[in-house]
Amino acid sequence: MENSVQPKERVLSAIQPTGMPTLGNYLGALKNWKNMSEDYDCLFAVADLHSITVRTTPADLRRRSIEMYAMLMAIGLDPEKNILFVQSHVPAHSQLGWILNCYTQFGEASRMTQFKDKSAKHADNVNVGLFAYPTLMAADILLYQTDYVPIGEDQKQHLELARNVAERFNGLYSETFKVPKPFIGKVGARIKSLQEPEKKMSKSDTNAKAFISLADSSDVIAKKIKSAVTDSEGCVRFAEGKDGINNLMGIYSCCTGKTFEEIEAEFAGKGYGDFKGAVAEAVVEELRPVQEEFARLMGDKAYLEKCAKEGAEKASRIAYKTLSKVMRKVGFWQVG
Ligand code: TYM
Repeated sequence: MENSVQPKERVLSAIQPTGMPTLGNYLGALKNWKNMSEDYDCLFAVADLHSITVRTTPADLRRRSIEMYAMLMAIGLDPEKNILFVQSHVPAHSQLGWILNCYTQFGEASRMTQFKDKSAKHADNVNVGLFAYPTLMAADILLYQTDYVPIGEDQKQHLELARNVAERFNGLYSETFKVPKPFIGKVGARIKSLQEPEKKMSKSDTNAKAFISLADSSDVIAKKIKSAVTDSEGCVRFAEGKDGINNLMGIYSCCTGKTFEEIEAEFAGKGYGDFKGAVAEAVVEELRPVQEEFARLMGDKAYLEKCAKEGAEKASRIAYKTLSKVMRKVGFWQVG
């Protein structure tokens, strides 16, 4: 019998260091990263290059990058088994990003809904980086010959663009990039705002009651869930028009592993007060170990630095293989 070991499929994803992640980031993306980390060859990045598309102060960017890196480890990603790195530590991302700009049409980048939303929101700073954001994201993914990209719904259009650019480049220059597939969880792919449940939960929401941050204390979490917008029916069931309850059911399901049917049965005949109490408890229990580990790691900056340095070295080795292949195919003069 043949005894060959199949190489594991590769997973890459990234998160911007624009503030403490929300429960939406955690349930929509980070928790899937943790689940995938055992079975795949994984790379996870702090996308700091992406976050300067919106104005930020240098001190905040630095602090948030360190916090986000610590958070990746706090959710249970082992830096020995996964490659955990910071995007700007691997210059190949910017280099391939530029090249991919030249293989992306103005029209297709203009169709990105996130670009339209963000340029409306930051009308005083619609910079070229904001427009080119998806080509840098494509570079992040394509550099590593990635099979799967775990993301929330809101990033699906960007992934579609990365696939199109990869196919276009492969068509012009022969097989160069693997064409990546999105991995979007069934529940949790779009955790909604607690105050306006038709909108996604976002860390940049001006109303702090709308989102749960991974740094929120148990009391704050309980208060925010208690004040979450619901409806007047008073019955815990998943149905159209019940965005608030549907969202809380999604959150409860992600934290407990229960199906929607099981949740409906558990709260049959009970009111929203009981349900909200149970959701709050489940979220607090889910986040407690993450918060404890995060606090511990933030007290050991030397260790974080060592891991980030090693992560960047490991990522660079893979990235440069793809980048030099691309540069050769495009026709850049390569010396030495
Ligand atoms: P970012 O930093 O906005 O969000 C990180 C991840 O969290 C997901 N997410 C959500 N999922 C469910 N419900 C929500 N309310 C919610 N809010 C956010 C996002 O879909 C994302 O998966 N452009 C990316 C970062 C990035 C990237 C990449 C991702 C840069 N390079 C390469 C994948 C591959 C972003 O801004 O995510």
